[in-house]
Amino acid sequence: MSAQPPVPQRRITAPEIASRKGRDPIVSLTSYHAHTAAIADPFVDLLLVGDSLGMVMHGYESTVPVPLELMIMHGRAVVRGAKRALVVVDMPFGSYEESPAVAFRNAARVLKETGCGAIKLEGGVHMAETIRYLSERGIPVMSHIGMTPQAINTIGSFSPRGRFRSEWAEFEEDARAVAEAGAFAVVLEALAELLAARITKQIAIPTIGIGASAECDGQILVLEDMLGLSPRVPKFVKEYAQIGAGIEAAVKAFASEVSEPLLRRFDEAIEAARRGH
Ligand code: KIV
Repeated sequence: MSAQPPVPQRRITAPEIASRKGRDPIVSLTSYHAHTAAIADPFVDLLLVGDSLGMVMHGYESTVPVPLELMIMHGRAVVRGAKRALVVVDMPFGSYEESPAVAFRNAARVLKETGCGAIKLEGGVHMAETIRYLSERGIPVMSHIGMTPQAINTIGSFSPRGRFRSEWAEFEEDARAVAEAGAFAVVLEALAELLAARITKQIAIPTIGIGASAECDGQILVLEDMLGLSPRVPKFVKEYAQIGAGIEAAVKAFASEVSEPLLRRFDEAIEAARRGH
C-alpha cells in the first residue's frame, strides 16, 4: 500500500473566521517575528501583527509613533513564520484615517508587500465608510473598538471603557456600524464584561475579546504579555509563563561563566606577583 501524500497546509481565510460566529471559539495571539509565529501557528486561528509592537518591542510610550514600514517589515516576518493561521496586520496611526482612498492605498501596500490575509484598523461609526470601501475592493478588515490605543492623545488613558451604562449605546452603535460596513470580525478591547457580551449577541460577525468578556466569539492576547516578557502588562492578563525571569537567569548564568575564569586568572596573576614570580 502506497503512503498517502501529505495534505498541503492551507491558510485560514478571513471569510472562514467570519463563519465561526457563535461556533467554536477563535484562538488568536499577536506575533511580531517569524520564530514566535512558527511556534504559535499550530495552535491558533489568527495571528495579529499588532502595532502594540511599538510599545512591547521598540520601547515607545504609545502606538502613535509606529510607521507603516515597520508594520510591513514585521508583517513579512510573521507571514514567513506561519503556515496555517490567518495573518492580520495592524494599520498604524496616520495611515488610514484621512480618507477611504488613502486607507486603500496603504492597506493594499500592506497586503501586497507582506502576503497577509487581512488588515485591522481602529474605530467604529467614524471608520464605517472606510471599512465598506476597503471590503468592497478586496481588503478584508478586522475592526477594533472599545479602548482604542491609537486615540491615547484624545482619550487620555488606557483604562477600561463602558463602565457606566450611560456609555453603552455609543459602543453598541460602533459595533453595529462596523459589522454592517463589512468588517469580518471586531476586536473588543477593555470593554465592560456585560457590554461585550451584549454586543456579541447583537451583531452577526465574530467578536474577539481582549480584557472584555469570556462570552466573546474568540479571545486575543499580546503574546509577550502572556509570556511574562512585556515591560507593562495590563491587569486582566493571565501570565502563562515567566519568560522574562527565565531570560534574566540565563543571561546571569552566562555572564558569570564568562567572567569567573577571567577573575580566577586575574587572582592567580596577583598571587604570582605577590610571590615574586
Ligand atoms: O496592537 C495590538 O496588539 C492589538 C491587540 C491588543 C488587539 O491591537
